[in-house]
Amino acid sequence: MKKVLLKQVASAVALLVLALSAWALTDKQRDEVSSRIAPAGKVCLQGDSGCGAAMAASGGGAKSGKEVYEGSCQGCHATGAGNAPKMGDTAAWAPRIAQGNDTLYTHAIEGLNNVGMMPAKGLCMTCSDDEIKAAVDYMVENSQ
Ligand code: HEC
Repeated sequence: MKKVLLKQVASAVALLVLALSAWALTDKQRDEVSSRIAPAGKVCLQGDSGCGAAMAASGGGAKSGKEVYEGSCQGCHATGAGNAPKMGDTAAWAPRIAQGNDTLYTHAIEGLNNVGMMPAKGLCMTCSDDEIKAAVDYMVENSQ
């Protein structure tokens, strides 16, 4: 009985030593670790030169039409789900494009329910009108 207990204590101590040895890092390793666990989203203030490039690459500017399409539109417009005109389907898009860009923009921003359910802004409520317009342009460019 006692022997079993001793064995358990011994293995607990061994585990502890193992865990502690993980802290015995060289400075270089520590630097590597801290750069790996650095927060991914740094707060960038306007005029802050330290993270200007990261800001331009994400979040800072408007999303491109392609980005909005991939994030919010392709769920329906890549597959044709619910009668959505498929991107690249020139026949499906021709009569829609013929309405003119302004009508397409309005329908994309406000929604349209003729033959299917086109939700307002494709449900991207954080997208600006300009970002939705860019996504429409992107789909139209690739569908004529
Ligand atoms: C839930 C599915 C769904 C999503 C998501 C969606 N659409 Fe649509 N979309 C549709 C359907 C269905 C139609 C056809 C509606 C109709 O004619 O009744 C349509 C039609 C359109 C049209 C043509 C409008 C016209 O006047 O003929 C545009 C432009 C459009 N969508 C843009 C977008 C954009 C931009 C996004 C992403 C921001 C998007 N859609 C996301 C389903 C969707």
